[in-house]
Amino acid sequence: MTEDIKKGLLGIVVDETEVSKVMPEINSLTYRGYAAQDLCAKCKFEEVAYLILNGELPDSKQLKNFEKIERKERKLSKSLLDSIKNFPKKSHPMDVARTAVSIMGLEDKETKDNSPKANMRKVMRIFAKTPTALAAFYRLRKGKKIISPKSNLSFSENFFYMCFGKVPNKEIVKAFDVSLILYAEHSFNVSTFTARTITSSLSDIHGAITGAIASLKGPLHGGANEEVMHMMNKIKKPENALKWINNALDKKAVVMGFGHRVYKSGDSRVPTMREYFAKVAKVKKDRKFEKIYDIVEKVMIDRKNIYPNVDYPTGPTYHLMGFDTDFFTPIFVISRITGWSAHILEQHAANKLIRPLASYKGSSYRKVVPLNQR
Ligand code: SDX
Repeated sequence: MTEDIKKGLLGIVVDETEVSKVMPEINSLTYRGYAAQDLCAKCKFEEVAYLILNGELPDSKQLKNFEKIERKERKLSKSLLDSIKNFPKKSHPMDVARTAVSIMGLEDKETKDNSPKANMRKVMRIFAKTPTALAAFYRLRKGKKIISPKSNLSFSENFFYMCFGKVPNKEIVKAFDVSLILYAEHSFNVSTFTARTITSSLSDIHGAITGAIASLKGPLHGGANEEVMHMMNKIKKPENALKWINNALDKKAVVMGFGHRVYKSGDSRVPTMREYFAKVAKVKKDRKFEKIYDIVEKVMIDRKNIYPNVDYPTGPTYHLMGFDTDFFTPIFVISRITGWSAHILEQHAANKLIRPLASYKGSSYRKVVPLNQR
């Protein structure tokens, strides 16, 4: 009997979720029923984080309380800070994020408690502390002093402050906030499914998020936003772009920032992120990357009918904001912790151990020959 194998679980529905859905009727990604671009226009990231985790948009009192908890938890323990100080300076920041969350798991007094309330408290600690851990490493590897979090700054403002020692102008902060909203959640993508698979054995939330970070690092997934920047740096100038991308496609290269398993005629997040990429380029008075962006996009669509995904506009936007390229995917992490956590809580609420089957193609049965006769 030949099994019908769906490599990569292509097109396979494995569970239900209430967290998000790409609604074809409005061609938009929706979080708990709200269109992502609508949330970008009317909310700040903390409101959307609350929505993804709790299922409803907060009222002012709920938002105030959510922010109070998040801001209180931003501080790191002395032992975690000391560990970060000893990380090899050449470590990839995604490995720093993964390791920092693991250490948080060692320290968290509620690691063994998988109850919904304890898990939500742990989520808030991971959500609040991971940016602080990343910013500390960002400073340390440049030989700079660590900057402690400030509780009178928003999530986005505080990340800029801890990395650069200052908060940029409102337009830059808004663009960053929008990128976090767009990165927050995307149903059963590979890192989220990794988190759900780890959770399905009733393992703990720190382990599930550690696994998700490891998965997100891959260039076929979150790591693509870094690869987009490497590609743009190789192209260097707009006048090189046409030749470069046609060469790449002639060589059958996989072009990072393009294509998607779910969206086949364009990632619904791209128009919004592209708009904020343009705003940041205008503020920074640097349109070079936009020109490269447009040339490469046109060739990909004309020659391959393959459209950009959210990583394509986000890469150059983070570059223009001043972040090191290898910090682009860690920024994806500090946002996606919300989506991962919502799915972890959902998996716990209706769990079934995730254990697929395989079609065996190995040797048929044979007897063992003792070593002295082999
Ligand atoms: C994210 O799942 C999510 O929701 C993820 C994400 C999220 O929010 O969590 O949206 C975030 O991870 C976005 C994707 C970022 N990754 C990249 O930009 C890497 C480049 N993209 C490709 O590797 C690819 O498009 C995937 C992996 C994203 C999706 O690929 P699929 O669905 O497995 O399809 P495939 O690789 O089998 O491609 C089908 C065809 C192939 O050609 P043929 O072999 O049939 O001739 O399309 C081609 C591919 O070669 N193709 C590409 C391409 N993407 C697909 N060719 C060149 N460049 C590309 N980027």
